Amino acid sequence: MTPRTTRERIEAVERLREEAAHAGSPAAVERQRERGKLLARERIELLLDAGSFTELDAFVQHRNPNFGMMERRPYGDGVVTGHGTVEGRRVFVFSQDFTVFGGSLGEAFAEKIVKVMDMALRFGCPVVGINDSGGARIQEGVVSLAGYADIFVRNVDASGVIPQISLVMGPCAGGAVYSPAITDFVMMVEETSHMFITGPEVVKTVTGEEVSFEELGGAATHASRSGVAHFTAPDERALIEDCRYLLSFLPPSNAAPAPWEPPSDPVDREDAELEELIPDDAAKPYDMHEIIRRVVDDAEFLEVQPRWAENLICGFARLGGYPVGVVANQPRALAGVLDISSSVKGARFVRTCDAFNLPLVTFVDVPGFLPGTDQEWGGIIRHGAKLLYAYCEATVPKLAVITRKAYGGAYDVMSSKHVGSDFNFAWPTAEVAVMGPDGAVNIVFRKELEGADDPDARRSELVEQYREQFANPFTAAERGYVDDVIAPRRTRPVLITALEASAGKRVAPPRRKHGNIPL
Ligand code: HXC
Repeated sequence: MTPRTTRERIEAVERLREEAAHAGSPAAVERQRERGKLLARERIELLLDAGSFTELDAFVQHRNPNFGMMERRPYGDGVVTGHGTVEGRRVFVFSQDFTVFGGSLGEAFAEKIVKVMDMALRFGCPVVGINDSGGARIQEGVVSLAGYADIFVRNVDASGVIPQISLVMGPCAGGAVYSPAITDFVMMVEETSHMFITGPEVVKTVTGEEVSFEELGGAATHASRSGVAHFTAPDERALIEDCRYLLSFLPPSNAAPAPWEPPSDPVDREDAELEELIPDDAAKPYDMHEIIRRVVDDAEFLEVQPRWAENLICGFARLGGYPVGVVANQPRALAGVLDISSSVKGARFVRTCDAFNLPLVTFVDVPGFLPGTDQEWGGIIRHGAKLLYAYCEATVPKLAVITRKAYGGAYDVMSSKHVGSDFNFAWPTAEVAVMGPDGAVNIVFRKELEGADDPDARRSELVEQYREQFANPFTAAERGYVDDVIAPRRTRPVLITALEASAGKRVAPPRRKHGNIPL
């Protein structure tokens, strides 16, 4: 019966809305649950503050006449879109619904996503995309491919303007991976999310390799081998909680400061334990995480890509309530050396922080770049240059603390004064030099050592002399290359004061279309 009265019309709209909210068949919903996956709307409810979700385009339907598709035109077309708040801050969101056409993307589906992305960009709000999809909707052919491209263009236009976060909570394959890949952060659920360009069957046909979904493109693979995933969690709820936490560090857009929160941790807190952490023997490792935790507010540190390129730690923390990006060499992994993966990881992170007004705090203990044919042939020159470029280019406040080694080119790269760092501090244990004592003595005194009566004794003597002259912070401090040599216990108050002093930093970048970072 066609509704006639106002009351009937209002009730009819509510019935349609109900229908839209249950567009997936009971069987499809059941399968989703069996896999331990939440429904598209449940994910949004968990992501946003309770009751804050405003849906858009609930009544959109596809208009594809092929393959009898007009017989089946579910409201919403397989993606839920809208906006709401996270900790009171506005966020735009889309959530692909695998229970409707396998979450496959067609024209109307893509238009809905494009709409929320355009709004997020126009209003200066982050956008969170929840991906769970069979990819391009086969029945829509090239129109669906066009829809993907419309999204890619929005991803690029929004890059560096508003934070973009991708939650991968199911399949995400083929060209569809490139939307998450362009966003700032990719977050994956262990066991139930997969990302790959071509699936195991195609891989087997083309290369003969046999590989499972999980091994090829699961969360663990992308967290530890490819570096595609920035965060992973054992289940969807935990991942969504991590996403909310991540958003707490990010500004709504590049035009706003990152969200300051009143610190509960005293800004003048000193930590005597910091003076016990560096081993007397410069060759012995220690855990840089421990230093980071003891310095930042409430020991809270959200590490990005914790299982990939572990020799460089990147992550978010607060100092005196201000969100900061922390970059730190990790002496416990490959002695903290810079290699291809860590350079790429660091460069990306530094640029993300710079785009979103997050000051950079760098903890330096770096023996140099990793030698070897693997690295040279793999292009360490090109990749190392990315990290250097990123630090040079970054205009946010840059602070650095040299805890131990800062050798060679890696010294320059790791937020040195020379690449525009604002406040640089050294611990008394710092050693700033072209290289470590043993290497230096072997090169500079090679001839003398060859002719020495007792080369080992002479080498020890020369190493000791070198150590005294170069392996300390004072050659750098005497020229102002470090602003102060500080007691490790005072690192936190010293950094917070530096952060406050540099908060008003203004740098006019040179006029150009864009730089040409060595990609
Ligand atoms: C239309 C699709 C679909 C698609 C799944 N479905 N993928 N419909 N287009 N791409 C539908 C199915 O027909 C089914 O509908 C429902 O979604 C659930 O799919 P199942 O196969 O039953 O689910 P499951 O067993 O979980 O397998 C999921 C899957 C598989 C692995 C994703 O569906 C699959 O391989 N789909 C095709 C993936 C693919 O090749 N996509 C194109 C990739 S290329 P009913 O009505 O039966 O419930 C691509 C290019 C992007 O995406 C280009 C960007 C530039």
